[in-house]
Amino acid sequence: MSDRKGIFAGDDPFALARAWLAEAEASEINDPNAIALSTVDADGLPNARMVLLKAIEDDAFVFYTNYESAKASEIEQAGKAAFVMHWKSLRRQIRVRGTVTREAGPKADAYYRSRSLKSRLGAWASKQSRPLSSRAALMAEVARVTAAKGTDPERPPFWGGYRIDPVEIEFWADGDFRLHDRFRWRREGPGEPWSVERLNP
Ligand SMILES: Cc1cc2nc3c(=O)[nH]c(=O)nc-3n(C[C@H](O)[C@H](O)[C@H](O)COP(=O)(O)O)c2cc1C
Repeated sequence: MSDRKGIFAGDDPFALARAWLAEAEASEINDPNAIALSTVDADGLPNARMVLLKAIEDDAFVFYTNYESAKASEIEQAGKAAFVMHWKSLRRQIRVRGTVTREAGPKADAYYRSRSLKSRLGAWASKQSRPLSSRAALMAEVARVTAAKGTDPERPPFWGGYRIDPVEIEFWADGDFRLHDRFRWRREGPGEPWSVERLNP
């Protein structure tokens, strides 16, 4: 039915997303795994910010953050999120929408341990999204947690991952004269079969 071929070919959108990201890693100057993460607040007002995508698993997209941040409360309240990643040099984007759950087990511990010590301590020091009186106050907090936690801090209970389990993934590639190629994969819910359709640009 579909004329999906070349960079759009395949039966598994997660594998396709991994392949596009691998290509971007070779061509983008920095942060090829940056995603614009979108949430809605309790009033339905949308919000967006960049985060780094840390894993494309067989069933989910994973990023890490502070569980007491604004994004976290919006995610926990709605249970849903969306993101877009855009690669300027490849002229491609991937859009994802889905339900969200926490990744707060051994995978989060392992990822936390893989970060530099300063980043691990920074996660302890930052009360992400809440007001801060001065830069000096933050640095004093970094010094305090450095003294308290030493060189092998445990993952903070308020810091970990989120898994976005998509119900929709769109692959978009630039075409001549704005006649872009778009393929939208959709499914009823996690674990359900995918259907794919080509969309008008
Ligand atoms: C390129 C880039 C990557 C970022 N990666 C992360 C990340 O992986 N996790 C995170 O919590 N914040 C990350 N940030 C900071 C967020 O954009 C944001 O400022 C912070 O998470 C607070 O957002 P919130 O108040 O909406 O929760 C990144 C910012 C940029 C510009």
